[in-house]
Amino acid sequence: MSGAILEVINLSKHFHRPRTLLSPLNRRSDVIPAVDKVSFYLRPNETMGLVGESGCGKTTVGRSVLRLLKPTSGNVIFDGRDITHYSDNELRPLRKDMQMIFQDLDAGLNPKMRVEDIISEAICVYGKLSDAEVRVKSHALLDQVNLKYSKLTSYPAELSGGEKRRVGIARMLAVGARLIVADEPTSALDVSIQAQVVNLLRDLQKQLGLSYLFISHDLQVVELMSHKVAVMYLGKIVEMGLTERVSGAARHPYTYILWSSLVEKQSHEAPRPARPDRRASSWGVYDFERPSRGCRFAPRCPVYQSLGRPAECTDPDNEPQLRDVGEGHQVACHFPLIS
Ligand SMILES: Nc1ncnc2c1ncn2[C@@H]1O[C@H](COP(=O)(O)OP(=O)(O)OP(=O)(O)O)[C@@H](O)[C@H]1O
Ligand code: SF4
Ligand SMILES: [Mg+2]
Repeated sequence: MSGAILEVINLSKHFHRPRTLLSPLNRRSDVIPAVDKVSFYLRPNETMGLVGESGCGKTTVGRSVLRLLKPTSGNVIFDGRDITHYSDNELRPLRKDMQMIFQDLDAGLNPKMRVEDIISEAICVYGKLSDAEVRVKSHALLDQVNLKYSKLTSYPAELSGGEKRRVGIARMLAVGARLIVADEPTSALDVSIQAQVVNLLRDLQKQLGLSYLFISHDLQVVELMSHKVAVMYLGKIVEMGLTERVSGAARHPYTYILWSSLVEKQSHEAPRPARPDRRASSWGVYDFERPSRGCRFAPRCPVYQSLGRPAECTDPDNEPQLRDVGEGHQVACHFPLIS
């Protein structure tokens, strides 16, 4: 994909469950296909939201993309370079370009270092600067993230959640990050602070042309942040496209159900007619331990039920693949909803 800063092609990451004495007795698979042949791309100045329920593989995608995990198969192309098999030594010079915002506000903030040391350490990744130059750059970074200079002498434990998040972002800017995987960056913050952090990330994107892979459970925040959205279900992307299309004209039953719960929350209205009724589905326990045949959403799919359980949906040789339904909107379903 020309012009992309990140291209992910058929990325898979499988984990292996440790074997125990009882392993031969239970029927669970020893392999957890946490990410299964996921493909997408990201351009400079672009945000892709990654959504889906807990355990569907979002963080594993983010960590694999940044090569914090080694993919099982597939390719990760960063800035035109295939980094899938790069060694730690080869990755080291790229680390500053690709950074992760972790859900944990304390991640990456050494509790024994003052804010000024945390930031100046990051500034000096580029090479040794004079004390005066470091001070000027630190102040400029604090201005960018709207943090008072007086916080430079604080330790992380003396900061609020929002301030910790800002220091983490300043540190990322100091090293010159261009691709940022933001994994639930607002979930540990108070609602009022969440909006400030979202606005800050958006402003920085405009100023610096940053690319974000934005992982969140909060669909409202995803809608605010993202130009496009990918919806994951049990390791697979089941729908992907421009945010307004995925959120407002979902074609996959799972996406529709996800966003219906948001619409219901906002308006207290029932889901729109002529679309599946969420309450008709048996929303049972289903996970990687009980792999399905064919479409992995079939055991929970209201459309599958309402169509009389069509054989296509559970055909083991016919798992639905993403296909274009217009304007780059892709859906993996044999019977996509009518928009
Ligand atoms: N290091 C690991 N070893 C074994 N299994 C793992 C490991 N990391 C993740 N998993 C499994 O892979 C699956 C995907 O996990 P992942 O953390 O990517 O999900 P997630 O979508 O980020 O969930 P959440 O929204 O709860 O953060 C889960 O079944 C999880 O238990
Ligand atoms: S392929 Fe069938 S089971 Fe899967 S989401 Fe589409 S309608 Fe539902
Ligand atoms: Mg996660």
